[in-house]
Amino acid sequence: MTETVLLVGGGGREHAIARAVAASEGATLYACAGNRNPGIGALTAGFETLETTDPTAVTAYAEAVGADIAVIGPEAALEAGVADALDDAGVYTFGPQAEQARIETDKGFQRRFMQDHDIPGCPDFEEFRDTEAACAYIDSHGDLAVKPAGLTGGKGVRVIGDQVTAEEAKAHLRDADYDRVVLEERLVGEEFTLQAFVAHGDVRVTPAVQDHKRAYEGDEGPNTGGMGSYTDAALHLPFMDEDDYLEAVDVIQATVDALEGYKGVLYGQFMLTAEGVKVVEFNARFGDPEAMNTLPALETDFLDVLVAARDGDSLPQLTFARNATVCKYAVPDGYPTEPEAGTKVTIDADSVARAARERATEESSGDEPRDSAGDALLFYASVDDREEGIYTTTSRSFAVVGVADTITEAEAQAEAALAAAGDEGLRTRHDIGKPGLVQRRVDHMRELRGE
Ligand code: AMP
Ligand code: GLY
Repeated sequence: MTETVLLVGGGGREHAIARAVAASEGATLYACAGNRNPGIGALTAGFETLETTDPTAVTAYAEAVGADIAVIGPEAALEAGVADALDDAGVYTFGPQAEQARIETDKGFQRRFMQDHDIPGCPDFEEFRDTEAACAYIDSHGDLAVKPAGLTGGKGVRVIGDQVTAEEAKAHLRDADYDRVVLEERLVGEEFTLQAFVAHGDVRVTPAVQDHKRAYEGDEGPNTGGMGSYTDAALHLPFMDEDDYLEAVDVIQATVDALEGYKGVLYGQFMLTAEGVKVVEFNARFGDPEAMNTLPALETDFLDVLVAARDGDSLPQLTFARNATVCKYAVPDGYPTEPEAGTKVTIDADSVARAARERATEESSGDEPRDSAGDALLFYASVDDREEGIYTTTSRSFAVVGVADTITEAEAQAEAALAAAGDEGLRTRHDIGKPGLVQRRVDHMRELRGE
């Protein structure tokens, strides 16, 4: 029996979801997004451009294509109640309704929820409606993370003592005049992401990923939606051990238990500190870029997970290929503060596959590619597929993912693939996944733990 699946969203994360769904024999895939993503378009039986925060438009398209199941990529659609509308229309939606998505969309709610339910890993925090009261709190508390309570595309947080001074944080608060802000203890350590498939109390976790939020190499510059990410050929990452991973899994499980009836992906952003695992935030969906590391490694049929979630069956246990992956985004020059759109994108899946094959052959020092030398994948993100070609917009453009036995080899694969793109009008963080940066993370954790 085939299932008609509607994917909502048109970024790199959604291209990775589309690829995973399309790999299932029993799935017929449709998609809708604000931009025409050529990677998603090539995998779907139909693609509609529409406003993904408009529940009526998305539901009308779902009904027009006869969708049985929907998967929602972006948080803004969840916040707008798209899952509520689809569920009401009888289309089972793998993604939480707006009330449950508040675990992501309202940072004040998220912290109070953790506190009320004794979920481990909650930093000290205070929430403010009054900007001057928040500024006075900054004056008396030193280093803090300053967070607008609502969604900001990952770009709203200011960390005092890291990115900004206390004076700059206060100036920002006065300037932006947010309705509510959360001020919380500044956590020091290394960040990692865990994403879990969740339905009727079942939790199926995926390998840990490390994202790189800062815009420039060496972790400098403003926060972005994420410039790139890596996984190791294990569930955990080089700077952590399995116990740290399991501690984070316990936090996810406790959160799912407290949320009651949550469905979709619960994403935990964690800080591994000298005192253990702390929660930076929760998201109510896959991470972008993290989905591009995780989903290509998923060996379990994605559609089986969706169908079990819908039918109230136990979710299948997940298996993952034991590969390392390195994902690097190409973003428009000037991103995120003054992005310049309109660059023609010349990279395509064929040139990426060719670059990966050539590198594999090189590595094997023979005529045949060596399997362990890995592969590379291309995911289109916020680009627009027009008659004249594929053009960048003001957000992240496309990502390449190297897949290999080790992080070092996966990084080299990603770079070989990127070289096929050229760099006119685009910028990449070349340091992501390189041995020097990964070792810095390991050394940082050793230093914090006094080892
Ligand atoms: P968020 O939007 O909450 O994920 O925050 C964006 C980024 O700000 C995180 O990925 C962290 O790098 C940083 N951040 C957020 N909260 C804290 C905190 N309490 N301590 C230190 N850094 C933080
Ligand atoms: N990579 C961070 C996020 O998806 O929010």
